[in-house]
Amino acid sequence: MDQMGRPLHDLRISVTDRCNMRCDYCMPADVFDSNHQFMNRNELLTFEEIDSVVESLIPLGIKKIRLTGGEPLLRRSIENLIQMLSKHPIEIAMTTNGLLFGGRGEILRKAGLDRVTFSLDSLDPEVFEKITRTSGERLQSILDAIDEAIECGLGQVRINSVIRRGVNEQDIDRLIERFGHLPVSLRFIEFMDVGNHNRWRHHDVVPSSEIRSHLRKRFNLIPIESIHRGEVARRWSVEGGNGFEVGFISSVTQPFCGDCTRARISAEGKLFTCLFATNGTDLKAILRSQNNEIQIKDTISEIWSLRDDRYSELRSKTPKPGTISLPKIEMSYIGG
Ligand code: GTP
Ligand code: 5AD
Ligand code: SF4
Ligand code: SF4
Repeated sequence: MDQMGRPLHDLRISVTDRCNMRCDYCMPADVFDSNHQFMNRNELLTFEEIDSVVESLIPLGIKKIRLTGGEPLLRRSIENLIQMLSKHPIEIAMTTNGLLFGGRGEILRKAGLDRVTFSLDSLDPEVFEKITRTSGERLQSILDAIDEAIECGLGQVRINSVIRRGVNEQDIDRLIERFGHLPVSLRFIEFMDVGNHNRWRHHDVVPSSEIRSHLRKRFNLIPIESIHRGEVARRWSVEGGNGFEVGFISSVTQPFCGDCTRARISAEGKLFTCLFATNGTDLKAILRSQNNEIQIKDTISEIWSLRDDRYSELRSKTPKPGTISLPKIEMSYIGG
């Protein structure tokens, strides 16, 4: 347990800091341009090193890992990593933008992937293109990938949508229309001021309560009880929805730090105990030394026991949101 009685339950592993999209709120194209220095290959943790971290965390109570990026499917032969990790008694999930998923669902599932979450903010090719700097023509391949994931039985497929004022509010209805009859979990995420380049303004946040009120005019929403401590989304099912559910991730208006059981590892092997942390602990140096498994376990155990992070909660209590300005790590670096 950490200082606030929170167990270490989830490990989110970023496998690359690269992405094949340039979402304006995550990796704006003018910052992440051809001059941007991404990590070198030899700086990345190898699959064996990642596996070794996971192995040493099992006795600490890890139950779930989530592979993220950047875009995790850019990491070559990621299915080999999944296969290595699948020998552990843990759930394996992935968050992807879906561009490279098509045709690989079965391979990933067979390797041991249990669940997949797609990030998709717009169904309008023009809006999609504006947000992601990726051709609107590619949208169809993401929709096909989502269908493929559902068909090949990758758990309950999740779709994450960050809704921003004046950018993609119209997509609330479009997304419901497209997915409302499928057995997926569609989650609306409040726009957070994570990273240093997202040009976050409080004005751009669309509160979950607003979206919920909007949806209640059309649907009978039935609340679903949380299954695990630390679930980030509050979920509702929809009458006649055929397994469809809608979730709200309200990090800004209803922070959930009190139940935050997540540790994060960057692609170069730094451990972070909060999405908004400034500094991480270098695990790679330990991993590349001898007798490393016991050392990794002890190091993480000690860091976790001292942990008192609750950034989103503290921030929501500051009189003027937007006034805390410590340098932060990027979402694309730490993996959401
Ligand atoms: P699980 O790993 O199964 O718990 O899935 P998840 O629902 O946490 O995963 P996902 O990657 O889909 O997270 C959805 C979004 O919730 C992220 O993109 C973030 O916007 C937000 N989020 C996730 N974890 C945290 C967190 O620890 N703190 C804050 N403030 N936001 C988070
Ligand atoms: N606020 C909320 N969610 C974000 N994501 C990236 N940046 C932000 C932000 N500033 C989401 C992506 C994706 C997940 C990995 O993180 O949309 O679903
Ligand atoms: Fe967009 Fe996700 Fe890539 Fe960031 S990591 S640019 S949110 S697709
Ligand atoms: Fe956890 Fe930090 Fe997010 Fe709070 S702000 S939920 S402590 S990662």
